[in-house]
Amino acid sequence: MPLHKKIKLGVLVSGRGSNLQSIIEACEQNTIDAKVAVVVSNNAKAHALERAKKHHIPALVVSAPNFETKILKIFKKHQVELVCLAGFMKILSKRFIKGYPYRIINIHPSLLPSFPGLDAQGQALRAGVKKTGATVHFVEEGCDTGPIILQREVPVYEDDTQETLSARILEEEHKIYPQAIGLIATEGLKIDDGRVCLVGPKRGKNL
Ligand code: GRF
Repeated sequence: MPLHKKIKLGVLVSGRGSNLQSIIEACEQNTIDAKVAVVVSNNAKAHALERAKKHHIPALVVSAPNFETKILKIFKKHQVELVCLAGFMKILSKRFIKGYPYRIINIHPSLLPSFPGLDAQGQALRAGVKKTGATVHFVEEGCDTGPIILQREVPVYEDDTQETLSARILEEEHKIYPQAIGLIATEGLKIDDGRVCLVGPKRGKNL
């Protein structure tokens, strides 16, 4: 029996679900004080749904119209405390985001604020940067904006293709997403002048 109360996660997905998988595994291995309460997809064909089902996690599909109202209802039923966007390909409204103040997080395959939006890896290759990476951040209105929780850098090599660079970044995504959830669940985070800081005993330490 865990000593701590586990934070309940609602994970929003649209596709492959490899980040969802890394979160599920971290929860099951008790690396983080969290539990995936429900997975919701806007795409019935998302492989992420199969991953959830394999782990006996409720996996639901919502479709337009009013998909946000449907998601909110599901999250309420499952008592979701933290919303994790994991390859969710829809922009959430101001109203939805306000309903979970600094309780929605996202992972993005670049070192934000560089290369927001679609095809972050392609943007990095076209810009010719020598380093890029992955970012976990709180979601605010706007595309891939909001206070940054964790970032991890990866090198960009001369012979990189979209595939090789994406794979290198993804490896880091799978580490920092569960880690960021763990920080929220166990340490507690606050936002001070746009910066994310620890509130617990480790406060002042570098994230
Ligand atoms: C990841 O690269 C994530 O950073 C981005 O969408 C992709 C989702 O991959 N937001 P997966 O569905 O988690 O495998």
